[in-house]
Amino acid sequence: MSKIDTKYLGIDLASPIIVASCGLTKSIDKIKEFESNGAGAVVLKSLFEEEIRNEVSNLVKYSGQFPYPETEDYIREYVSDKSTQDYLELIKKAKSNVNIPVIASINCVTNQEWTSYAKEIELAGADALELNIFILPTSKHQTAEEIENMYVKIVTSVAKQVKIPIAVKITQHLTNPIHTAFSLELSGAKGIVMFNRMYKPNIDINNLRTTAGDIFSSPAELQEVIRWIALTYGEIQADICATTGIQNGESALKAMLSGAKAVAISSILYKKGAQVIKDINETIDTWMKDKNFQNTKDFIGKLSYKNIDNPAAFERVQFMKFFSGIE
Ligand SMILES: Cc1cc2nc3c(=O)[nH]c(=O)nc-3n(C[C@H](O)[C@H](O)[C@H](O)COP(=O)(O)O)c2cc1C
Repeated sequence: MSKIDTKYLGIDLASPIIVASCGLTKSIDKIKEFESNGAGAVVLKSLFEEEIRNEVSNLVKYSGQFPYPETEDYIREYVSDKSTQDYLELIKKAKSNVNIPVIASINCVTNQEWTSYAKEIELAGADALELNIFILPTSKHQTAEEIENMYVKIVTSVAKQVKIPIAVKITQHLTNPIHTAFSLELSGAKGIVMFNRMYKPNIDINNLRTTAGDIFSSPAELQEVIRWIALTYGEIQADICATTGIQNGESALKAMLSGAKAVAISSILYKKGAQVIKDINETIDTWMKDKNFQNTKDFIGKLSYKNIDNPAAFERVQFMKFFSGIE
């Protein structure tokens, strides 16, 4: 095998392929399987700020009325604490069972009480912390700037709590993802994960109800990811990790050529199992030999906006011009 290793968030990874945060990474057996199949790192299933709150309100709801307000306070404290304790246990167990870096993950929407958990996550042994932030705008009164300022506040608060590197998983639904990535870097992020794939709602026209959209990504979703990574590469010092739509070695290579130092996968692991990591690593290795690249850094970002001869390929206007002749 060639040297397919990379450095992400200042951490050496034997492979650029990271297991993205998902249900699979809450199982120690699965994490061990990912390591033995050549994963460079794992991102644990997110601890959801929202989930903790829901758990609390459900418990309160199903327990009926409390004679004393203190009882409710106690339950709120206990449930929050239990979710957190379980998560810290998962980090500790993962760290004692595998040698690859273990990245904890928090899904967050505020910079409130949960930021103190970040310290505990660090103490539990996580090598890094990924913040999955998406503030869904649901009001015409909320401006893009207000929402993006909240991202900055969250990262600033967490960066004050921990010394381990912080990566921020952002959505592509931002006015200027490059600016957001830069602001997050200035707030303390060492990595930007592009992009999180949201839960997507769908509509059932026969039964007149809403349903869940596709849980798993499709390979076509990678194209937008590539564009934004290519445009962001070189504009920020923080490392970029690609996620969404990467399902084989070829797509991992595209993401890396556009500027990603690491590639996080999830859907394909659900569909094909851990063995796919081995296949992706082998494809990268074979391709590197074929192209005569000794190290991954020799080609990461080689086809980014800054490094290509025809940067217009990444610009929308050129895209429209390109298709304007097609009847
Ligand atoms: C079943 C499932 C659960 C997921 N749970 C989380 C999560 O808890 N936190 C998170 O940041 N991303 C979560 N994701 C998103 C993945 O980490 C990943 O970024 C996304 O699926 C895109 O990668 P893919 O195209 O390889 O699936 C989940 C994805 C799937 C399919």
